[in-house]
Amino acid sequence: MSQSLASVAYIGATILFILSLGGLSNPESSRRGNLYGIIGMTIAVLATVLGPRVTAAGIPWLVGAMVAGGGIGLYAARTVQMTQMPELVALMHSLVGLAAMLVGFATYIDPAASAEYSGAAKAIHEMEIYVGILIGAVTFSGSIIAFGKLSGKIGGKPLLLPGRHWMNLAGLLTVIYFGREFLHAETMNDGVKPLIVMTVIALLFGIHMVMAIGGADMPVVVSMLNSYSGWAAAATGFMLSNDLLIVVGALVGSSGAILSYIMCNAMNRNFISVIAGGFGTSGGTPAAAAGAQPAGEVIPVNATETADLLRDAKSVIIVPGYGMAVAQAQHTVFEITRYLREKGVNVRFGIHPVAGRMPGHMNVLLAEAKVPYDIVMEMDEINEDFPKTDVAMVIGANDIVNPAAQDDPASPIAGMPVLEVWKAKTSIVMKRSMASGYAGVDNPLFYKENNRMLFGDAKKMLDEVLAALKA
Ligand code: TAP
Repeated sequence: MSQSLASVAYIGATILFILSLGGLSNPESSRRGNLYGIIGMTIAVLATVLGPRVTAAGIPWLVGAMVAGGGIGLYAARTVQMTQMPELVALMHSLVGLAAMLVGFATYIDPAASAEYSGAAKAIHEMEIYVGILIGAVTFSGSIIAFGKLSGKIGGKPLLLPGRHWMNLAGLLTVIYFGREFLHAETMNDGVKPLIVMTVIALLFGIHMVMAIGGADMPVVVSMLNSYSGWAAAATGFMLSNDLLIVVGALVGSSGAILSYIMCNAMNRNFISVIAGGFGTSGGTPAAAAGAQPAGEVIPVNATETADLLRDAKSVIIVPGYGMAVAQAQHTVFEITRYLREKGVNVRFGIHPVAGRMPGHMNVLLAEAKVPYDIVMEMDEINEDFPKTDVAMVIGANDIVNPAAQDDPASPIAGMPVLEVWKAKTSIVMKRSMASGYAGVDNPLFYKENNRMLFGDAKKMLDEVLAALKA
């Protein structure tokens, strides 16, 4: 394939990637968006493999790598549980970072690649290598730690080393110093040393940065690492003089940055303070001494009583959370929704931007269960309707319906916007125990007078509620 044909194919792929991103912004067009992405990526890979920069001798290597990589990817995609998706994404980001690092080193020590440049072009090329490896290393180690935290292999508690900001600053200055050494190196041997020192510092920085971030801020970190992986890919594009990688990397980098910003807004967090770390606690246990501990009695109900409340209601808002994903209860939720709607009840869904464990987690599950899109509302669209609602049914959600975010300035989630389910005539919380959610904070909602607790696995309880409704 000639260079010009490859360029045309790259432009086509770029347009498809932009259409793909546009499509993914809405559940209704997301399938089409995915399809554009698949076609774009196929064109991109074919144009690269058959393009002018790959020699015949390289083809078997490429095919071998693609079969191995494609096989692992296929296996991972088929076996991964929906709830493990964020971990998988974090692991994938780490591979992008690793690739950027390896390409950087390979480009530097490859005599043919270095011989292409001289004078100012050489300095720019080396700067690309240095920055590319830097971003790649931070992305790689940061994503590995994010994977560990999300999968529970590393605790969610932030690691706050004394003088950590000074350590980061010292790391940054050292990286700048060695960058100067690298650019002034006379020989390749002289250049490799500062490159290795910088790589080690960048790897340590990635670990330190994500270790310092608490459980509750992990969604922002995942999307931030997504953005980094985009910049790492763009840096790889510069090193390899591949325009498509530069454009796609920039698309991923900027969309990840925008998503991080939106999520920070959704959690009422300042982006810089998230990155600086130290917020949130380990998941699953009540946060000790953080905020006032709610006290009082909770009122448990059974499935039949829940069915009665739902049957008597004119309007119902369902708030799904992480527990619905764990219990895989979305299909029963849909059955109940369909039944109630047939009986004339106005049923809608309220989706918090960080419900579950990844952006769009609830939307994906509800779409899978074929819940109509027009009754799935975002938090801002539905929050003011709770006072006019008879029953708010919370299914395996906790942090996103915690009134302490509004009432208790000492709470670790103070200021985070939440779905105001307690303003409904009756709220029903469905979960297995009194355990806290991801942020590890107790929830005063459970003790409110108009709240009922339906204890048990969400799928099992909803099956019972459906049976009681139909009885
Ligand atoms: P959580 O606050 O984590 O609460 C989920 C609740 O579901 C738990 O309290 C748990 O209580 C219950 N549960 C677990 N398994 C269940 C089952 N089989 N049946 C019934 N209930 C079950 O979830 P949320 O309200 O969706 O909030 C999300 C949290 O995750 C936020 O703090 C958010 O910041 C964080 N986070 C979000 C993301 C993204 S991007 N969405 C990524 C990482 C972290 P029991 O153990 O008592 O059953």
